[in-house]
Order: sequence, then C-alpha cells, then structure tokens
Amino acid sequence: MSEAHPETLALIEGLLKEQRTFPPPDELRRSAIIGDDSVYREAEEDFEGFWARLADEFLTWYRKPAKRLEWNPPHCTWFEDGVLNVAYNCLDRHVEAGRGEKVAYHWVGEAPGESRDITYAELLRDVSRLANGLRELGVGRGDRVGIYMGMVPELPVAMLACARIGAPHMVVFGGFSAESLAERLRDAGATVLVTQDEGWRKGGKVPLKANADQAVAMAPEVRRVVVLRHTGDPVPWEEHDVWWHELVADVPDTCEPEPMGAEDTLYLLHTSGSTAKPKGALHTSAGYLLHAAVTHKWIFDIHDDSVWWCAADVGWVTGHSYIVYGPLANGTTSVLYEGDPAYPDWDRHWQIIERYGVTSYYTAPTLIRSFVKMGEEYPGRHDLSSLRVLGTVGEPINPEAWVWYWKVIGGGRCPVVDTWWQTETGGILITPLPGVTTLKPGSATVAFPGISSRIVDEQGNPVERGSGGFLIVDKPWPGMFRTLFGDDERYVRTYFSKYGPGVYVTGDGAKQDEDGYYWLMGRIDDVINVAGHRLSTTEIESTLVEHPAVAEAAATGAYDPDRGQRIVCFVLLKDGFGASEELGEELREFVAGKIGKIARPAAVLFGDDLPKTRSGKIMRRLLKNIAEGDELGDTTTLRDPAIVEDLKRKADHALGRG
Ligand code: PRX
Repeated sequence: MSEAHPETLALIEGLLKEQRTFPPPDELRRSAIIGDDSVYREAEEDFEGFWARLADEFLTWYRKPAKRLEWNPPHCTWFEDGVLNVAYNCLDRHVEAGRGEKVAYHWVGEAPGESRDITYAELLRDVSRLANGLRELGVGRGDRVGIYMGMVPELPVAMLACARIGAPHMVVFGGFSAESLAERLRDAGATVLVTQDEGWRKGGKVPLKANADQAVAMAPEVRRVVVLRHTGDPVPWEEHDVWWHELVADVPDTCEPEPMGAEDTLYLLHTSGSTAKPKGALHTSAGYLLHAAVTHKWIFDIHDDSVWWCAADVGWVTGHSYIVYGPLANGTTSVLYEGDPAYPDWDRHWQIIERYGVTSYYTAPTLIRSFVKMGEEYPGRHDLSSLRVLGTVGEPINPEAWVWYWKVIGGGRCPVVDTWWQTETGGILITPLPGVTTLKPGSATVAFPGISSRIVDEQGNPVERGSGGFLIVDKPWPGMFRTLFGDDERYVRTYFSKYGPGVYVTGDGAKQDEDGYYWLMGRIDDVINVAGHRLSTTEIESTLVEHPAVAEAAATGAYDPDRGQRIVCFVLLKDGFGASEELGEELREFVAGKIGKIARPAAVLFGDDLPKTRSGKIMRRLLKNIAEGDELGDTTTLRDPAIVEDLKRKADHALGRG
C-alpha cells in the first residue's frame, strides 16, 4: 500500500480500525433492481419454485419445462424437459424485440485508437454466418469445438456459433502453451479448432496460430482449423486450415438455431484440481444460462441503459459467465478490451471507463493491488463518475485494497461487491446485493438467494460462528457443473464423497462471523491461486519431473502480497546434474513453456533431499512454511531434519529475505 496517497492511506486505516460497515447508498437502494430482501425470503421458502419463476422470467423457451429440480445425489437436472437455444436467448430475441441496434460490445483493441462497436443485429449476423460455416465443416450437435483466441469480438462469436448449432465449445485461455492446448483438445475429443493468426498483448504479438499448429500435431482427432485474420501477419499454413473469412464468404446471413434440451451440454471448461491433469467441468444450457443471467443482473445492478465491463479474459469462467452469457442474455451493452491494463499506460482502464460511461466494473483483487501500487495519479486523470457498482472476484481481497477501490475508483459512492464462486459453480454463489447488503471490506458477505452454503468441520458438523472450516453447498443450484467430462467417477470422488453425495465440497476454507458473513480463507487442497488463476501443485510437479535433470519435485503456494500466492518449487536433481542458477532459470522456463506463463515458478530451490517423514511422505506443511519464511515448528518426525534448515536458508536467499 506504500504508493497510495497519504490521505487515502490515513482514511483506509481509520475506517478499518473503526471496523466500519458500508450500507447501500440511498440512491442505489431506491433505484436498484433488487432493493429489499424479499428475494431471500422467497428463495428460502421454496428454492425450486424461486428458480422456476426466474427461468420463466429470464429465459425464452421453445418448450417450457414442466419439471424443476430432479436430484439424485450427486447428480441433478434442472428444467429437464424444457427446450431452448442459448444463442437465441443471447441474440435473436433481443433483435426480434426491436433492440437490434443496441450495442452488444464496445470492443477496444490494444493498439491505441483501435475500436469497434458491434450491435446485437451485427452479432447475430456474424454468429449465424460462422454457425453455417461450422455446419459446412461437418460440425453438428454434440461435436466438441476447441477455441483458442485472444480477446477479440470473434471469440464470443465463435462460442455463440457453437451454441447455435448445439456443439459444445471448449475455450482454452490464449496464454496457455501448445501442450496445454493439446491436452485439453485430446481430453475433449475436439474435432475442430477455431483460432486466430496472432493476438496483441502488451504491445507485442502472441503467436496463437503457431501454438495451435504445434498443439494440433499432438491432437490427431482435430481435423479442421478455422483461422481468424487479426494482426494480418503471415502465418504458417496447413492443409486442414481454413480462413474464417473464406469459410463464411458464401454462406447465408441467417441460421436456424438448433432446439436443445435444457440439460444438453453448452460447454466444457478445464480447470486445475488436486491432480496432474486439468479436468473439464461440464456446463449445461438452461440452468447455466439462468444462473449467469440472474446473478449478472442482480449483483451488478444491470438496467437497460447500463454499460457493463467485466475485465477478465473470456478464456476463464468469469469471462464465459460475465462477458458472454450473462450480459448477452440480459441484452446488456458491454465493454470488451483486448489488451493489458498497463498498455500503453496504467490509466488504460480508467480511460475506457470514461470513454464509454461504464456503470459497473468487475475485476480481480490482484489487479486492484497493482492499481494501488501505481498510485492515484492514473485514475485521477479521468472522470469516473459514471460508475455505480464495483466488483471483485478470484481471490480474497485484502480490506486495504477494498477500501482503496471503494474510495479512489468508486469515489465513495459505489458498493464493492466481492463475489465468491468457481469454474464448477458456473456463476456467483456468495456475494452482496448492492442495493440490499451492508458491506464489510474483505468479506464476500452472504449466499445468493437460493444457495444453501455452510461451514463444517472435518466430520461435517456445523462449526460455531467465528471458527474456520470447510465451505460446502448442500442443495443443488441451476448453474452447477453436472460432471467432469468423460470422468464422472472423478466428479463424484473429488466433490461429493467427503460428506456424502448430497454435499458439494468447494475446496475452500472459510469462516462465518457473528453476523453470518463469510470470510474466505483460500484453498485447503493442493490448488494454488496465483493472481486469481488456479494451478495444481501436482500438475507443476509432474511437469518438472519431465525435465531430464529432475529426479523429484514438490511445489507449493506461498503468500505473495501482490499476486495472492506465488509458486515455489523444491527439486531433487538426478545424479550427474549440479544445482546452478542457470538450471533454476531453465526449470522455471520449462514449466512456463509446458503449461503457460502463469505457471512460471517464482523460485526453484535445489536440495539434497526433500523433507520427508520416515515413511517417505513429503511434508507439505513444511514446504509451505519454508516458502513463506515461517517458523518450522516440530521437525522431529523427519527422516533428516537437517534438510529443512538447508532449504530454509536457500529459500530466504532466493526470495530476498536476507
Ligand atoms: O479459492 C477460491 C477463489 O478462486 C477459486 C475458484 O477459481 P476458479 O475456478 O478459477 O474461478 C475463479 C473465478 C470464479 C475458489 O475456489 N475465489 C474465487 N472468488 C473468490 C475466491 N476467493 C476469495 N474470495 C473470492 N471472492
């Protein structure tokens, strides 16, 4: 917080010392979509009826469902006999209602000056054309389509084109490596991949097509690759490639949407868990769209004239639910920004907010902490008075950053909604409603109406208010993932076995305070959260041992004041290899190249052994203590206690702790 303005700093400290709470501003309470707590009571009385009412209100059906929830723990369906099309709900119905000229996306390219407005009518036409093109390539209902693109308008176009013809999409974040892409393509059994020549990032170009070529060489089921021309640079060409613009050159502008069952798959999205291989969370059509749309509208207080900006990447679930499906289902005007928040300078976001009159803005705590560091001069350059609601997601937000966001960006007028959810949950589960909830900086507050969450101990008993425990959800909700693609057994085992099949285990630790407010405390499994992005320790470890020099590896997440956590790796080398700074650097690069830049370890430490018990089990608690520079506590159960002292010295040195 050192760079914050001294006055702001004093204010923040004062407010936090007073433990001040923040009730909804009167003006917002009066005008909010949800301005009182009646929805909580309605949902409490009959949560199935609550969601059914909203399914009628928010969705347009070809055949209205008679069924609501069918719950055979741990499997559920919602509105199973209903028939609809998600792309129709996101596009056609708005155009049919006369809103075709409304802007769907204000797209802003990274290169200064480059921007484009896309109306709902234009989006519908572009989606229909690509949908026709995909059909020509033989893509039909149920066929999985991989998408590997940057933040260009054609990314939502590709997703919606898939939705229109009933082909589940599987988007892979453009920052992932060729190997990560290949693994996901294989896992999904994708037969077609949509990509682009290159993307812009921080003034440089990301070689998406070149990466895609490498990936496709490792994913033999992919038979066609559709390539969008974006930067225009020449790219290598394969026989199976087809230019997007050529594919849609001669197709009709309209395309009949495929009538889909409510429970038909809309998409797969891979995420990291406790195992080496990422798993594909499977989301279905009606329940997911409903959850995304309702939460978007109520939590960010979206009116007809709102201008919404979720500054996440579409490659993550946040972008799926709150850049594409939720906002489009609500007919909202959104900002879609291609590039980096610091390009060309740190006021880029504030400049965009001013230019388009953004009313609700949603980003990650890690970015807010960067903004704090850069200082108030940057937001000070722009008029941010259009803002009404601010949001955060992805990791716990420290109260200082929360108050800074509220004061400096929101001008003390805008509620900050801290929203807790996961790839698996499809949409937000724990969150304030800005016109209803009194806020406490650092708390995600309470469960969304219709969501039944609790904190329990190891045995599943409720814990007392104020004590920590495991966050669980004990009733199904419409947007929840239905399985892990191709591995239902793992779905059951990972998420529904600890406390029985009716209880979803989130993997997060949390506590509730005396008012019942939730305070999230981070993952309790082997998942690391770096700058809001999930990585698995096991995935990093199994990557490291692929390197010829590495005999054994262990990875841990250590506290990082800016990025939440950072990755620290411990490596035991094979005979004949010597520890050196160069090798450490090579291994960091190796992991980044294999998984993606977000997985680059902050440090690789070499030891003569890893801290193991006499039975040979690595003591992970100790690794974490070493990486965080904590006291080591009891090491007597170790096979060789001297090991940890040596590792601790190395860690302190590598991580700059003197
Ligand atoms: O640990 C929680 C953290 O992010 C995890 C989910 O990551 P992912 O599936 O990538 O989805 C991120 C965006 C929805 C959770 O298990 N997390 C997410 N939001 C919050 C959070 N931790 C604390 N506070 C939050 N608001």
